[in-house]
Amino acid sequence: MVLDRVPLHPIVEPVQKKVYIESYGCQMNVSDSEVVASILAKDGYTPVKSAEEADLVLLNTCSIREKAEYTVLQRINEMNNLKARNKGLKVGVLGCMAERMREDLLEKKKVVDLVVGPDAYRTLPDLLEKVGTGQKAVNVLLSREETYGEIEPVRLDTNGVTAFVTIMRGCDNMCAFCVVPFTRGRERSRDAESIVRECAQLVRDGYKEVTLLGQNVDSYKFASPQPLSKGEGLSEQHISQEKVDFADLLEMVALACPTLRIRYSTSHPKDMTDKVLAVMARYDNICKYIHLPVQSGSSDVLKRMNRGYDRAWYLERMASIRRHMPDCAISTDIIAGFCGETEEDHEATLALIREVQYDMAFMFKYSERPKTLAARKYPDDVPEDVKGRRLAEVIETQKAASAQRMLGYVGQLHEVLVEGVSKRSAENVFGRNSQNSIVILPRYADGVELTPGTFVKARIDSATPGSLKGSIHSIVSTLALPA
Ligand code: 5AD
Ligand code: SF4
Repeated sequence: MVLDRVPLHPIVEPVQKKVYIESYGCQMNVSDSEVVASILAKDGYTPVKSAEEADLVLLNTCSIREKAEYTVLQRINEMNNLKARNKGLKVGVLGCMAERMREDLLEKKKVVDLVVGPDAYRTLPDLLEKVGTGQKAVNVLLSREETYGEIEPVRLDTNGVTAFVTIMRGCDNMCAFCVVPFTRGRERSRDAESIVRECAQLVRDGYKEVTLLGQNVDSYKFASPQPLSKGEGLSEQHISQEKVDFADLLEMVALACPTLRIRYSTSHPKDMTDKVLAVMARYDNICKYIHLPVQSGSSDVLKRMNRGYDRAWYLERMASIRRHMPDCAISTDIIAGFCGETEEDHEATLALIREVQYDMAFMFKYSERPKTLAARKYPDDVPEDVKGRRLAEVIETQKAASAQRMLGYVGQLHEVLVEGVSKRSAENVFGRNSQNSIVILPRYADGVELTPGTFVKARIDSATPGSLKGSIHSIVSTLALPA
């Protein structure tokens, strides 16, 4: 009898481990999760689309308001059921809650194996090795230098059209209500060349839009140790430049990637310069949209919030935006019921909303956060029902302002970048105009399907406070080149 030959050296397939990363909170967390996926890819992990399939579940968390933390704490509890079904499963908490709660998180939530703060992701492979031996692992060290600059992110949940690129980390502003300086540490800017390189790679990978991310992009500052090397489209002026501010960076990306639409977030009213506005106005591929959080319309409240500007300064910045770009859309963040906010202060916020006419706003009830200046210095003295009523009034006022702005677009021709099929109807697609409004369009134009990534000239036919509806005027295969 002849036996099948058994190889002397059996071939051992490398074990492919599977990671599922769930991101909460801001766009920065989505971007960080892509850095984490890249670090883990080198350690043999492939990203999967559900927690049920994974060997490792990572929750990239947000601490900005108590409610955000509560949502994550509920989700951590659900991990107990998953672990009961999958004994080998490991669970990690990343991001702001990891930084804020540290070892306490392991104590309070036994299901958690791993706690890693936003500046410690490079140590994930070592920490996971420790977790593999049955121990718990923590690293919440903050850094003054870490920017993950050279790490090429693994794009997760991508539509293949729009992507985020982080340009700076941390925040030095110390707004009285905000926990971010405590969870994300000191501000530092990423090497300008690595940002331009990442954007150019996005173009090669077929992406059509990038959002440059930072807590306060207007204070981006990078001092190149040597003159920048010659890259695509960079002018002599940029190449010899050693200090790059945000306006310079925007221009560098606009020039290096003329077919890429460029957005950014978040601006700070105290730091937003006319130089940035002039660059935005100069390049067609920089979107005419600014997210400029005001937080309150009352100068007294702004002072207590430690925002570094007053109502008059903010309105002057608004006027400057309109002078540079009459077609620019503006959105904002507003907090209702901050410590000591009076009815008069609240009315000032409502009046500001009516005056500015934001296209869109994110609106919140004040939520006291441990360690912040406000938590230490001011009583959280606006009663919960008053906060609720004021927030409702802010939302109502903003809805009317949005409706006005959106109605103003009816009849205009807008360039829309198609992102995908509408969730409401398979007959329609959705995309965004330069002003960042959602535009719904018919999916087919003369029998041609509008696939994600297509630029369309659309006529705006109707508007709701949240979106626009349009018809196709013409298909432009690529973004108009900058002037
Ligand atoms: N309570 C309510 N809203 C807050 N934000 C930040 N901290 C708090 C807080 N403690 C809001 C601000 C900020 C946005 C990201 O979240 O409006 O701009
Ligand atoms: Fe928080 Fe203010 Fe920094 Fe924004 S600018 S992250 S609100 S401290």
